[in-house]
Amino acid sequence: MSATPLTVLGIESSCDDTAAAVLRGPEVLSSVVHGQTALHAEFGGVVPEIAARAHVEKLDVAVQTALEAAGLRLDQMDAIAVTAGPGLIGGVLSGVMLAKGLAAASGVPLVGVNHLAGHALTPRFTDGLAFPYLMLLVSGGHCQFLRVESAERFHRLGGTIDDAPGEAFDKTAKLLGLPQPGGPAVEAEAQAGDAKRFAFPRPLLDRAGCDMSFSGLKTALLRARDAVVAEHGGLRPQDRADLCAGFQAAVCDVLVEKSRRALADCSDLTGFAVAGGVAANGAVRAGLQGLAEAEGLPFVAPPLRFCTDNAAMIAWAGQEAFAAGQRADMTLAARPRWPLDDRQPALLGSGKKGAKA
Ligand code: KG4
Ligand code: ZN
Repeated sequence: MSATPLTVLGIESSCDDTAAAVLRGPEVLSSVVHGQTALHAEFGGVVPEIAARAHVEKLDVAVQTALEAAGLRLDQMDAIAVTAGPGLIGGVLSGVMLAKGLAAASGVPLVGVNHLAGHALTPRFTDGLAFPYLMLLVSGGHCQFLRVESAERFHRLGGTIDDAPGEAFDKTAKLLGLPQPGGPAVEAEAQAGDAKRFAFPRPLLDRAGCDMSFSGLKTALLRARDAVVAEHGGLRPQDRADLCAGFQAAVCDVLVEKSRRALADCSDLTGFAVAGGVAANGAVRAGLQGLAEAEGLPFVAPPLRFCTDNAAMIAWAGQEAFAAGQRADMTLAARPRWPLDDRQPALLGSGKKGAKA
């Protein structure tokens, strides 16, 4: 990284958050996020066309607000960094087109950023974490272990083969009549629940490696719910709490055990970091922190606003890429899929919130 900190505008629109931010080195001068939760609420998931239209409406507003809050003009930026994938293509395209327009009009260089690299590099600007570290990226659309070796080199050790955990939390909430996003609602219910009442599976723990699966857990929850409803004619508050506690404990156990294996596969790590909305879960955080402590490694969980989708992480990843000499031009493409580690086989399937990688 150069001696003078770079000032970079970041733009993010790959899922259901329209975001812009300005970073100078690791300092966040501004970070604006317009969420779309209300727009998608009645559909039980993100509707790509609605998301893309909302991004088009909000992107220029977000950029203007971010620049004003930073007290800077566009021509004072060293670079404009934009998420070029992976994600819902309409949203990614909206961001890329805007960034190209801004770059063409101002002459500021353009950098295309991988959204997953944004998440994976976040502990560098929030906590100054040095390479190499292990990152567990765990959100509504992603779930993977990455050994982050440099700003351009990510080794994927494993990940979900079906649903992401956030998606499973959201489906659980839906099945139990709780509001979206499901994670916080399920966590709140679980506080009063008995995690041992229902015996939920711990998928793939019997298989070596760090791959995970969460879709069977959802089916197990559906069966357990139906059995209770058949017996009692409905769900009582304690039933709901026990189902949530049992589900959450199963997710925690899988994440902690697979993290243990991922850590065992790595050497010389500077720390174990998490990012993504599910990292907000107190039980998940506590489990992972306990593991890191047992392994004698620093545990880094960035503040929640930088764990979930945001543009500060894009501006930071853009700085690292720019410092390494990367430049995009008007041919920069929007990519629905863009695995961070292209030495690994591509992931199949795409989550409710977009392509996983
Ligand atoms: O990272 P994020 O904001 O968006 C992407 O998926 O990219 O993550 C959102 C996901 C949702 O599925 C939400 O239910 C989950 O994170 N989540 C939680 C909690 N807070 C948010 N899951 C479990 N416990 C929580 N406290
Ligand atoms: Zn994300």
